[in-house]
Amino acid sequence: MQNEVKQILHRHFGKRSELISILQKIQQEHGYLPLEAMQDTASKLKIPDSAVFAVATFYSQFRFKPCGEKLIKICLGTACHVRGADRFLDNLKKELGIEEGETTPDGKYTLESVACIGCCALSPCLTVNEEVVANITSPKLRKLIVKK
Ligand code: FES
Repeated sequence: MQNEVKQILHRHFGKRSELISILQKIQQEHGYLPLEAMQDTASKLKIPDSAVFAVATFYSQFRFKPCGEKLIKICLGTACHVRGADRFLDNLKKELGIEEGETTPDGKYTLESVACIGCCALSPCLTVNEEVVANITSPKLRKLIVKK
């Protein structure tokens, strides 16, 4: 882990001002921020671990546990909410057997909610690994989570 963090820090000049970029790169590599990588980052930047954790926990883009193969982010923003997003979230929880922020035991799905994904005219919507699924319906939802 240290070599990898070292390379990322080298590419980002190892400056404290690059901390967010460094954390983004680490997350790109691993899909989340492993504790050891955050500690290595703090050590290499010569800042306390708590400074790295404070930044990482402030931004919702960072995750601290491995993610499923499919990351489903359902939008609960106003436009999606008024078009039944809560009901679709409940259906996803029930079908997948997990709560928000959790990953199915087989590692296939992680379920999260977000405030708005910027395509309110297509509500209700969600993303699967950054791909937008617009105008959600129950049949569309079922197709998304068909277990193979
Ligand atoms: S409220 Fe759902 S995309 Fe904006």
